[in-house]
Amino acid sequence: MSTVLALETSCDESAAAIVSGRRVLAGAVATQMEEHARWGGVVPEIASRRHVEALPALIARVLAESGLAMADLDAIAATVAPGLAGALLVGSVTGRTLARLHAKPFLGVHHLEGHLCSVHLGEPLPAGPYLVLLVSGGHTELIRVDGPGVYARLGRSRDDAAGECFDKVARLLGLGYPGGPAIEAIAVGGDPRRFQFPKGRVSLPQGGFHPYDFSFSGLKTAVLRQVRTLSDQGGELPVADLAASFEQVVAEVLVERSCRCAVEAGLGTLVLVGGVAANARLRRLMEVAAGARGLEWRLAPLAYCTDNAAMVGLAAIERFEAGNRSRIALGVAARLPLDQAGGLYAPQPPF
Ligand code: KG4
Ligand code: ZN
Repeated sequence: MSTVLALETSCDESAAAIVSGRRVLAGAVATQMEEHARWGGVVPEIASRRHVEALPALIARVLAESGLAMADLDAIAATVAPGLAGALLVGSVTGRTLARLHAKPFLGVHHLEGHLCSVHLGEPLPAGPYLVLLVSGGHTELIRVDGPGVYARLGRSRDDAAGECFDKVARLLGLGYPGGPAIEAIAVGGDPRRFQFPKGRVSLPQGGFHPYDFSFSGLKTAVLRQVRTLSDQGGELPVADLAASFEQVVAEVLVERSCRCAVEAGLGTLVLVGGVAANARLRRLMEVAAGARGLEWRLAPLAYCTDNAAMVGLAAIERFEAGNRSRIALGVAARLPLDQAGGLYAPQPPF
């Protein structure tokens, strides 16, 4: 059983974890959200600086909590793509420096492979080939997983990611950043049927609609239009009802298209991961809809939905135990399709 120290710095969470086998021995996350909230979104330059400040204490803390020393580790891992390049570089340089100092192998990890592995931190494990709905601030994708590292994308958002849509709608409702938790909190007291928002669809050139792709930019505009109409009428804005109706339509469209995709692709299990997977309404709808269609479902443990280093550690362990190592010269990339994650372990680094 292998033990790794993993670092995650792709966006606005600095995180470190020590994972052994499928057990998280210690994990720590330092969020920068409050700082970015002042600007209404993540400021890359600030994110990089805060990662530099946060990582040393996080690493010291997970080592102390796990009771391990650097000598006990089998490898060191860091997220290297995709994400904010400057932010990724902080985790990657820190990880590679530690690896060189302590003569340990280094593994660069694809952030989305980390999210996919977050479900392996729960029980029971999904049994092979299965469909993953990955919903985060940067991605909304339906990914067929045929085995470790073998992925095929069957659907995606053509514009905003679901989490990005939560963030934008929260901003126009005056709820602050990050939008997902803020909308979820206020939507609890709202009526999810009061407003009918559209389930954005993606037209095909030959006519009809793409069965599994998503579009969220029209939904954001529809909420904006509704807010303007209500504001023109005067009176207090029914923020809870607007938030609940928005959350409901996002959850419905995600669940409907994922279930359809799983059934039509002949996949018996549906898996939900990513920051938006923390949403209780989405989790509930997914269970009900998957159950009604005879699908098995697995939800990433709540603690590992939003960005964390434990999921990165688990992805690294799966790669490490399959014999993969990264070259110490491996850099970072703002973009990298998930099906190219294997390239991070190639003899010639892709970047
Ligand atoms: O996976 P994640 O932490 O970072 C990325 O890789 O993007 O996802 C962050 C996104 C944000 O857009 C945030 O608003 C959303 O996940 N989010 C939620 C919830 N918690 C976080 N969206 C809906 N409901 C939540 N409870
Ligand atoms: Zn993420």
